[in-house]
Amino acid sequence: MKICCLLKRFLLVLPIFFGPNVQAFTGTYGINYGRIADNIPSPDDVAKLLRAEKIKNVRIFDADHSVLKAFSGTGLELVVGLPNGLIKDMSSNPDHALTWVKENVQAFLPETHIRGIAVGNEVLGGGDDQSQWEALLGAVKNIYNATKVLQIDNVVQISTAHSQGVFNSTYPPSSGIFKENVMQYMKPLLELFSQLGSPFCLNAYPFIAQKNNPSEIDINYALFQPNKGIYDQEAGLHYDNLLDAQIDATYAALEDAGFKKMEVIVTETGWPSHGDENEPTATVNNARTYNSNLRKRLAKKKGTPRRPKSVLKVYVFALFNEYMKPDPTSERNFGLFKADGSISYDIGFSGLKSSSAASSILPSKDILGRCWSRSYSLVLTACALVLLLFLNS
Ligand SMILES: *[C@@H]1O[C@H](CO)[C@@H](O)[C@H](O)[C@H]1NC(C)=O
Ligand SMILES: *[C@@H]1O[C@H](CO)[C@@H](O)[C@H](O)[C@H]1NC(C)=O
Repeated sequence: MKICCLLKRFLLVLPIFFGPNVQAFTGTYGINYGRIADNIPSPDDVAKLLRAEKIKNVRIFDADHSVLKAFSGTGLELVVGLPNGLIKDMSSNPDHALTWVKENVQAFLPETHIRGIAVGNEVLGGGDDQSQWEALLGAVKNIYNATKVLQIDNVVQISTAHSQGVFNSTYPPSSGIFKENVMQYMKPLLELFSQLGSPFCLNAYPFIAQKNNPSEIDINYALFQPNKGIYDQEAGLHYDNLLDAQIDATYAALEDAGFKKMEVIVTETGWPSHGDENEPTATVNNARTYNSNLRKRLAKKKGTPRRPKSVLKVYVFALFNEYMKPDPTSERNFGLFKADGSISYDIGFSGLKSSSAASSILPSKDILGRCWSRSYSLVLTACALVLLLFLNS
């Protein structure tokens, strides 16, 4: 009797391992690997750097094959990007979506751990091409359908990242709501993502908010430094940093739209170490302070005041300074690392050293990890089958 109950309970737990919810993120810390520069290290060296620094979660803004090859067998968990320029085509041509996913995702699985596809970046609420807003849902649907057809929908999670441009209000956090003209596109998107178990992906830059509002926002509040914070009367919650407040404004907007259970993850945040004359807070000191405090904040594995149990997950922007990006100057100086692979400032990373001493200790391929995860799912499947036979007999 007791054994039977235990077994039944075990069977109830099994869907957690095999269910539709794809886990695209390990731990709490990830990074964006932007590549708008021709002087940054090779993808092979980048893979070595990331492994040496123990940064496992990585986002790229396209599906560059040299990167996908270099990450093969490294154990790095990668989210690839479908560029905004392809959204309309993917929306109107399901067969193009299928080809794109085949050539840029399926072809590299399972050796390259592609865990997600970000369909477009900051499409809603931004730019001047409103037809992209209209096409986004169709593109997401067709890309998702392609992963289903190719039977990789259980390893690759579909999402899209949003800027602050989708919100009408974010202050105080409990007043967070989406813009009216965004809502008609946002709502069906959120309906689909909540069915797929995908999170809401937020790009949040306290640097930009503070830069646009220097008299009202205390720089220490933006930098996670000691400050008196703000009190959200409506929610009865106190905030001591702006990033938490931006995330909770997003949770409030999701609740207002009827999506109380959707998780928010931060797909971009960062602080530039250099900027134009009208960007006086873009300094090495502030960039070090923000990124160092952010790392400490994430290492605590905590949620936000509104969602204390939802451990915060963040992809920092960005890995390298990218000198070929357009103005303002701050855009080109978000890198934790300079173009030559050395650190921009010290937050506990060591950077690429000219001697290969640091990286040669590591095995070049994460073969053990791969074998382990494969045999793990085999064992679980076998257990499930045996138990089903046992219970039915
Ligand atoms: C899914 O994709 C396949 C192959 O491109 C296509 O034949 C099918 O109509 C699509 N289904 C949906 C629901 O979009
Ligand atoms: C923002 O909210 C206000 C108050 O509800 C409303 O009047 C205004 O039209 C909204 N603006 C947008 C862009 O949604």
